[in-house]
Amino acid sequence: MKKLNIKNIFFILLVFIGVSCESETSEDSSEQTPEKDEKELPQEGVIAQNGMVVSDHPLATQVGVEILRKGGNAIDASVATFFALAVVFPQAGNIGGGGFAVYRLKDGQTGTLDFREKAAATAHRDMFLDEKGQVKANRSLAGHLAVGIPGSPDGMLKLHEKLGKLSWAEVLQPAIDLAEKGHKLTPVQVKQINRFQDTFDSINHHKVHLVKNSDWKVGETIYFKDLGQTLIRLRDKKRAGFYDGETADLIVQEMHKGNGLITKEDLQNYQSVWREPLQVNYKNYQLISMPPPSSGGIVLGQLLLGIEEFPIREWGYRNTQTIHIMTELLRRAYADRATHLGDPDFVNVPTEMLLDKDYITERKQNIDFNVKTLSEAIKEGEVLSIESFETTHFSVTDKEGNAVAITTTLNGYFGSKVEVEGAGFFLNNEMDDFSIKPGHPNQFGLVGGEANAIAPQKRMLSSMTPTILEKDGQLFMVLGSPGGSTIITSVFQTMLNVIEHDMNMQQAVNAYRFHHQWLPDNIFIEPNVNELDSLVKLELEDMGHLLQDLSQMGKVNSILVRPDGKYEGAADIRRSEATAEGF
Ligand code: GLY
Repeated sequence: MKKLNIKNIFFILLVFIGVSCESETSEDSSEQTPEKDEKELPQEGVIAQNGMVVSDHPLATQVGVEILRKGGNAIDASVATFFALAVVFPQAGNIGGGGFAVYRLKDGQTGTLDFREKAAATAHRDMFLDEKGQVKANRSLAGHLAVGIPGSPDGMLKLHEKLGKLSWAEVLQPAIDLAEKGHKLTPVQVKQINRFQDTFDSINHHKVHLVKNSDWKVGETIYFKDLGQTLIRLRDKKRAGFYDGETADLIVQEMHKGNGLITKEDLQNYQSVWREPLQVNYKNYQLISMPPPSSGGIVLGQLLLGIEEFPIREWGYRNTQTIHIMTELLRRAYADRATHLGDPDFVNVPTEMLLDKDYITERKQNIDFNVKTLSEAIKEGEVLSIESFETTHFSVTDKEGNAVAITTTLNGYFGSKVEVEGAGFFLNNEMDDFSIKPGHPNQFGLVGGEANAIAPQKRMLSSMTPTILEKDGQLFMVLGSPGGSTIITSVFQTMLNVIEHDMNMQQAVNAYRFHHQWLPDNIFIEPNVNELDSLVKLELEDMGHLLQDLSQMGKVNSILVRPDGKYEGAADIRRSEATAEGF
C-alpha cells in the first residue's frame, strides 16, 4: 500500500477521535467491539411473518417485539425500541440527542420526521474559534458548548401522536422498567462504560452515575434511577415532561455549570419537522429516504442514478471495475455534499439539480474506466464535512405491512460526555457536525462548506440515512446504519448486494464494504470481514487508488420482504450485539 499523506493521517485521527471523541482513547475501535470471524456470521437472517425488529441491543429488540405482540403497530414498536435503547444503549440511542425517521404505511403512504438537534439561539458562526480565528481544540466535541438542543423526545411524541395505536404510556413503560428495575450488562456495554470512566469524571461537575470505583462486570445489574424518573415525567406530561418543568430546569442548570448555551426558551421552542421524503427511482425500485438536513437521501439518490447504466451485476460485487466505478461516483457525490448541503430552513439546497439525470450524466463525463480521477479535479478547494462514528439504527415492520426506519445519535460515544445531573441521561455533541470554521481547515486539517456554517436555531448537516425501498410499488427493504460519513456508502452497498448481486438480507449485511468520500482521496477498506481479494487490491492500486484499512464501517440493521411475503431480519453482528427478532 502507498504511503499516507498528511490528509490521510488527519482522517485516521478523526476516525479514532470520532469513535472515542477523546484523545485518551486512541485505540482501534475493533478493540472495543470484537469483530466476528466471517465464518461465525449466519448466512440467513431471522424469518417471521407477523413483524420484525432489528436493533443494536437484544433487550431493545425484545421490547419492540413485545409491543408488536400486544397489538401495537410498527410505529408503537419503534417508539418503544427507541426509549429502550435510551436505557440499554446510552452511548448512542438517547433522549439527549436527535435523529430521523422514515416510514411507509401499509397503504403506501410515506413520510419522514426530522428530529435533528438545533443550535441554541445564542450560538454563532465563530463560537468554536479563538480571538485569532483558530479552532479551539475539542470544544465542539466534548463538554457543554458542544451540545445541540435535543430533538428525540419531541420526535418520538410526534411520531406516536400521528401514527401510533397503543397509548403513549404503554410504549414508554418497558423503558421505564429497564431503567428502574435494572438490567444485566452485556460485554459491549461493559467495554463502553468502563472505557469512559475518567472522561465522565473530568468533564462533569458531579459524580456521573455510571462512574464507580471498580470496573463494571459483564452480567452485573445496572440501574438508571434518575433516567427512570425523567422517562416517567415524559410519560405523564408528554412534551412538558422534557421541554418544560423539572427536566428542562435540570438541563438548563447543567448548561450553567459548563458555559453551555441552551436555555429554557431554546427547549420550549424546539419542534421536530415533518418533511417530504426524498424519492428516487432505480430500475423497478423506489428509494424513500431522508431529505436535508440529512445528506443521506440526496447522496444515496445520486449514487443510485449514477450506477444505473453500469453492468455491475455482470461484474460482481468484489470486482475491481465495480469498486472503481462506485468509488468514482462516491467521489463526485461527496464533493457535492460538502459544497451544497445544509439545513434547508436556512440555505437553498439545490435538490432538484443534484438529482437531475442530465446533471448526473454530466458529473460522470470524466470517469475513466482505467484510471482514478484525482479528487482535486472534481472541484477546486478542499471542502468537507465529517461526522463521528457512533450512532444507532433500527428497522421495524409489523403484520399489516407498516414499516419504520429510524437512525438516531448523540454523535460521538456518549455525545459530549455531559450527563444532566439529576436527570440521568447524556447530551449530544452534535455541534461538531456543523462546519465549525467554514472554508478553513479545522483542527484535523479538514474544512467544511458555507452551507453548513453555524447559525442560531439551525440544524447541523447529517449523514444519517434511514431508508425504505419499494419494489414494483410494494414494500421491499427497510434499512439504515450508523457510521458517520460511512453511513451512506454502507446503505448503498447493502442495497446493491440484494438488488444486483442476488444476496439475501443477511448475506448483504455481512458482505465486505468499502468507502470513499472525495477527501481524503482514499478507498477505505474493511480489514478481515470477507477480506478483499489481493488481486483486486493490486488492480485498484494500479488504477491509482490509495487503499487504507478502516475497521469501523457501518452497522446495517435491516429487513427484507421475501417473495413469500415473510420478513427476513438481518442484524449486523460483525462488531456488535445487534439482534433481529420476529414472530
Ligand atoms: N452525527 C452523525 C450524523 O448525523 O451524521
